[in-house]
Amino acid sequence: MPPRRLAPSPAPAVHRTLAGSHLAVLTMIVCTGCDARDPDQTAQPGAGDARAGRRAIAQIECGVCHVIPGVPGARGQVGPTLAGFARRAYIAGSVPNEPQHLLQWILDPPSISPSTAMPRMPITPEQAHDMVAYLYTLK
Ligand code: HEC
Repeated sequence: MPPRRLAPSPAPAVHRTLAGSHLAVLTMIVCTGCDARDPDQTAQPGAGDARAGRRAIAQIECGVCHVIPGVPGARGQVGPTLAGFARRAYIAGSVPNEPQHLLQWILDPPSISPSTAMPRMPITPEQAHDMVAYLYTLK
């Protein structure tokens, strides 16, 4: 009997390690989910729904002031065309074109550029997230 005790099976240790890493992965997934649900915290390209964004852009009538490919009737000339927007380096020439900045721009343009002619519009953070997703499809 004693010799068997000298060579214990490694299985329990392996199981513990696997359980630990599963827990770590699970924690990461749960936390990513938390962030994605908080519209003011994250704006990853892909966090929004591009199709819903296109609908919201049409509904809010951003096209009164912008040319926006894929949005019927969006032929406005007040602001710059949004064709190829994903490749633009800066938003309104003032902040780097990153999802977080774009989200803020859409929700509240004067907070980035106080003298801009683009007004603040009554849109929800969720609509803004969706618009961000759509605008980054314009390559
Ligand atoms: C009343 C006209 C007007 C409306 C409506 C409007 N915009 Fe604008 N937008 C502008 C103007 C003007 C600029 C240029 C701002 C500047 O350079 O200061 C601009 C700039 C932008 C930019 C930055 C473009 C770039 O190349 O730098 C984006 C993105 C944008 N608008 C998206 C939207 C979206 C999305 C909507 C609808 C929710 C919208 N705009 C509605 C006038 C408007």
